[in-house]
Amino acid sequence: MAFQEIFPTTIARGPLASSQALQKELLKDIELISKEDKFGKEWSKKNYIGGYTSYASLNNLHHRYPSFMEFQKRINKEAEKFAKKLGWNFKGLELQMTDCWANIMPQGTYHTLHFHPHSVISGAFYLTTPPGSVALKLEDPRMSFYMNAPQGKPMYREVPAEEGRFILFESWLRHEVPPNQSRKSRISISFNYALETVD
Ligand code: NI
Repeated sequence: MAFQEIFPTTIARGPLASSQALQKELLKDIELISKEDKFGKEWSKKNYIGGYTSYASLNNLHHRYPSFMEFQKRINKEAEKFAKKLGWNFKGLELQMTDCWANIMPQGTYHTLHFHPHSVISGAFYLTTPPGSVALKLEDPRMSFYMNAPQGKPMYREVPAEEGRFILFESWLRHEVPPNQSRKSRISISFNYALETVD
């Protein structure tokens, strides 16, 4: 008898090398964006209670700000490595960042369980993670089929939010951010990739 792993779930994590100056630029821009984005502030009041997200208002920051353009360039390389590890065959398609938005999460703000339809890879990059910053919680994909909990294995896995580090996962993987516990805000960037035709 032989054992075979047929549908494992692979995620990717790592630091974004030499990104300290870039992180500062991103934070500066996010501070400005969060002050000026009236629609986003209103939207966040109802949908991101206590915090600010540009998810519904400015979700193409990678086309708007040089800092985010640079971020895109760097994280693209990581996303490509991840896709390679997953064994994807592109056949005239390429990974393209379709959405990129910023999140400011004070104490108590949360984001309920969700996934990212129409995307292939999603991820986050953490810019500020003061003590108590809540981890990203990933759900065992079997859970969404209402199956019994796989014995002896946790149904959720937590990935700590760590400044200067990113996480990449396939967009079907459900995830949530429980109420943040840090006294100062936890600040992150989220993004999606799609597979699009090479121009
Ligand atoms: Ni998400």
